[in-house]
Amino acid sequence: MITESSQNIKNDSTVKGNLRDEEDFVLDNTLRPQNFLEYIGQEKVKKNLDIQIQAAKKRKEPIEHVLLYGPAGLGKTTLANIIAREMNVNIKTTSGPAIEKVGDFGSILTNLSDGDILFIDEIHRLNKTIEEILYPAMEDFKLDIIIGKGPSARTIQLDLPKFTLIGATTKLGSLSNPLRNRFGAVHRLEFYTNKEIEKIIKRSTRILDVTADQTGIEKIASCARQTPRVANRLLKRVRDYSEIKDHKIIDGIVAREALDMIDVDHMGLEPADKQILKTIIEKFGGGPVGLNTIAAAISEEVKTIEDVYEPYLIQIGFLARTPRGRMATENAYNHLGITPPNSGQNNKLL
Ligand code: ADE
Repeated sequence: MITESSQNIKNDSTVKGNLRDEEDFVLDNTLRPQNFLEYIGQEKVKKNLDIQIQAAKKRKEPIEHVLLYGPAGLGKTTLANIIAREMNVNIKTTSGPAIEKVGDFGSILTNLSDGDILFIDEIHRLNKTIEEILYPAMEDFKLDIIIGKGPSARTIQLDLPKFTLIGATTKLGSLSNPLRNRFGAVHRLEFYTNKEIEKIIKRSTRILDVTADQTGIEKIASCARQTPRVANRLLKRVRDYSEIKDHKIIDGIVAREALDMIDVDHMGLEPADKQILKTIIEKFGGGPVGLNTIAAAISEEVKTIEDVYEPYLIQIGFLARTPRGRMATENAYNHLGITPPNSGQNNKLL
């Protein structure tokens, strides 16, 4: 699947990963910042990208290939769209698992124009054959096509436009070295601070035309898993609640009531997070236990645990990834109100 947008079209981004629902999607498009000025946080990445863009513009060249990595929902797609807008070029968007056939990928590449950006989300999920086509395409802007089969098969080489590839991944480690090395710039996106999340929520309240006081904003921010996508999703749920209950202003009390209704606790944990931690603690003695075993025990997909739940649990120090598997930390026991074994000992990982 590929989508195309020109700079006149406000936002294309129609890649759909399994983990993003329709609602997230529409929401993203309304609230997504359009330029670096509107984009809150990730200061270092923004600065570096801005320099890269200004330098490329000065040389009248496309920017070098960019790889963006980091947990889901931190703004990789948004940044790719901003880069395209700042460079004043078209962006075509697709994703690793969506590119199945060599022929399809060939036509994506040959349909690009000089300077265009090709954005591949979840680039770590590209299949090997497609990845191998990408190497000469990225390096020399060449496409090798094999015509025919067997002994009479021959290869012809096509020139490709000088495009820029922007790859996004949640798993840098799953990218092969040859692919990773072909990116001119690699940027890691970090979880946001609470203050940044508050600013993002404030901006979103203005766009959505809802009124929230500082305590209301802080309440939502503290549950947003340091992730803008979650912050905006929670804001929308809280807005629904306050509208239905006829509250004119989202204050701390309204926000907490709304978050209680959707089972989000004061640290932003959802029932699935707690189920993961409880499973490790109650069924596997706190760990270490393998991810596949956890997934089977709670009937959840490994990928969902890895991409959606685990990064934040690790970030807040509730879960530890060890060579022998996942372990619940003392903080996790305390949060769930379970007495840690050996409590009193100075041992964080139990
Ligand atoms: N909405 C989603 N992500 C954002 C960000 N980083 N800055 C501003 N608004 C956002």
